[in-house]
Amino acid sequence: MKILVIHGPNLHLLGRREPEIYGGATLDEIDAELRRLAAAEGIGIEIVQSNHEGEIVERIGAASASFDSILINPAAYTHTSVAIRDAILAATIPAVEVHLSNIYAREEFRRTSLIAPVAAGQVSGFGAMSYYLGFRAAAALARGRSHAAG
Ligand code: DQA
Repeated sequence: MKILVIHGPNLHLLGRREPEIYGGATLDEIDAELRRLAAAEGIGIEIVQSNHEGEIVERIGAASASFDSILINPAAYTHTSVAIRDAILAATIPAVEVHLSNIYAREEFRRTSLIAPVAAGQVSGFGAMSYYLGFRAAAALARGRSHAAG
């Protein structure tokens, strides 16, 4: 069983980027905790960060071959990317959408997620904990899939 984690644009700046909104944890710290959670659950994990929409689309497109679920923070692409939405729709594995900030409590343009309607679910507003809660969901979905596959 294996989960693909995708961090979208600018998330490599975590810790330095608007810490009052996104918190003080760095992406390396979040990734280390995700790896720890995965190891504890006996689940494989691969983590990518990309600032490029096309690369994210390609990663999602290739994911079904080797992964059982996707944990994704699409960052700014949440609000703009029909291409990432379509890639998730086309993938035959479930995706869990996460956000550090509560996107519904921020600027108007952040209150629409093009991804949410095609995600299995969304976790938003708990800082780094959004990832850890989202990981639990992605692991449960991956487990459900591998049972379904026998
Ligand atoms: C974000 C919210 C987005 O609106 C923003 O563009 C980000 C991060 C979050 O995790 O809170 O880059 O996805």
